[in-house]
Formats: sequence, C-alpha cells, structure tokens
Amino acid sequence: MNPSQESAPTNRLVAYLRRQSFLPTALGALVNPFFLIRRSLFEHFRDLAPRLRGRVLDFGCGQKPYRACFTHAEAYVGLDTRTGGHDHSRSAVDVFYDGARVPIGDETIDAIFCSEVLEHIFEPGHALSELHRVLRPGGSLLLSVPLCWNEHEAPFDYGRYTQFGIEHLLARNGFAIVERRKAGHFVPVVLQLCSLYVHETLGAVRPRALHWLLSLALASPFNLLGIVLGALLPRNHSLYFSNVILAEKVSPASGGSFTPAPRTRGAAGPGAMPPSSLTAPTRV
Ligand SMILES: C[S@@+](CC[C@H](N)C(=O)[O-])C[C@H]1O[C@@H](n2cnc3c(N)ncnc32)[C@H](O)[C@@H]1O
Repeated sequence: MNPSQESAPTNRLVAYLRRQSFLPTALGALVNPFFLIRRSLFEHFRDLAPRLRGRVLDFGCGQKPYRACFTHAEAYVGLDTRTGGHDHSRSAVDVFYDGARVPIGDETIDAIFCSEVLEHIFEPGHALSELHRVLRPGGSLLLSVPLCWNEHEAPFDYGRYTQFGIEHLLARNGFAIVERRKAGHFVPVVLQLCSLYVHETLGAVRPRALHWLLSLALASPFNLLGIVLGALLPRNHSLYFSNVILAEKVSPASGGSFTPAPRTRGAAGPGAMPPSSLTAPTRV
C-alpha cells in the first residue's frame, strides 16, 4: 500500500470534518462544538448568497468557508489582511492588503460578501467606505456581524453590533438595506454558549485530539438540547448570534442619516420597539 492510499481515508475524514465545521448538516451536532451558530449562519448564507452575481469579493475571507454558496458568482476573489488574530496557514486568501486601501479599482466589483469581519476592524466606517468605492453602483453587499460571541482573534476584536448599530453604520456609508435577518434566537444562543464554554474550558487539554474528543463528547448534548428546545420553546429574538444583512450600494457614500425611532411609553421587550427609521441616501 503506498502512502497516498494509506492516507486517503484520513484525508476524507479531515475534509468531512472541515465541511462540518462551517457547512454543517444535522450530523454536525455530534462533531462540531460551534454547531448552533455555524448552522444558523450557513442557512442564511445558503439562502441569500445566490442573489450575488458576477465578480464577487469575499472581504476578510479567511478560509472562504462559504464559497460553495455563491452559485451565481462568475469570479470569486478572497481578500484579507496579514495583521489579524490568526496565522492564515489554512486560509484561502487571493489578495493580501494593508488594511487601509483595498487594492482594487473603483466600481469594478459586482457584489461583496463580508462575514464576521467588521468586529475586527477598529474603524469599520473606513472599511465600509472602501467597499462602497470598489462596488459598482447598485451592487450588493451581503454582510454578517455578531451581536453575541466571545472575544476571539485577540487582540483584534473591537466590537459587537445590535441591529440598530449596523443599520446606522451602513446608511452612513452609502448602503440601503434590502433584507435584514437575525441568525439564531435566545434559546439556541444560550445552549451554544454552554457548548462554547466547555470547548474553551478544555482548551488546555493535550494532545489536541483528546481536547477535541472530550469537547465533542461534552458539547454535543448542548447542541442537541439547543435544537430540541430551540424548536419547542417560545422564540425570543432580543438575543441572537449575528445580524445578516443584504444591502445595496446607493450614493453618495456619506449621504445617509439615522434617526433613532421614538420609544413609545411601555414599549419594552422583544418586538415592542417600533422599527428604526433609516433615511437612506438616494438610489443610484
Ligand atoms: C472571524 S474571521 C472570519 C473569516 C471569514 N469571513 C469567515 O466567515 O469564516 C475574521 C477575518 O477578518 C479578517 N480581518 C481582520 N482585519 C481585517 C481588515 N482590516 N480587513 C479585512 N479583513 C480583516 C481576519 O484576518 C479574519 O480572516
């Protein structure tokens, strides 16, 4: 038996576990300690990504884990920066940049995907103005930003976003919201945090394989509980994993203004807040 034959089953297993890591099927609940958040994000991206067509830029791409969701992309370019919280040994970056000016011409990109990146940028308004510059008029931006996750990629982790914060930021930088969603809801978030707690607490266990085995054995019950209780208990959307937003480039970049919605007396709790009022800039 030659070495490549020997390693084939191992390679298949590694490829399977990598897929389960970001694009989990139901079985992922048993092999992925981040199952509840990743499954939830994946479902939204799988649904929205086919609406992005032509030349697609994955901004802050990392491993480009959602590439397969972009079934209508003619070209798919991954951009990232070297100065981040991880070493990029498993990343799939096509273009590295300095974190200041995106090395792409004005209005040459048809659509942009940016998942879980803005929280790592100290001046997200600057990044959005760069994305606005390279995007063609009317082009789409599919964005996700976390509301609830632990500190990660330390020390390059600067913020979390409520739906109102990210709406404000997008409007200010020349994007009109086409569709807004929340990934996850209260009960799965709580169970996912328990699973994350287990995974992090066992972080020092070595060898790494033992860490993962223990972590999975102890985390998967929380995953399963999250699935079952998340379906049975009443939904509450005041706590969720991430905002997932499909937006469109409008003009000018600095023309948006934000007026917080007035709070009516006694309006409290999920669903009681009137929708925020965004004055989007003129469409191109
Ligand atoms: C949490 S990871 C998300 C990676 C990928 N988008 C995903 O969904 O798996 C955050 C990514 O943002 C990248 N990043 C950090 N600062 C950045 C910047 N200024 N511009 C672009 N990407 C940045 C990191 O290198 C990292 O790949």
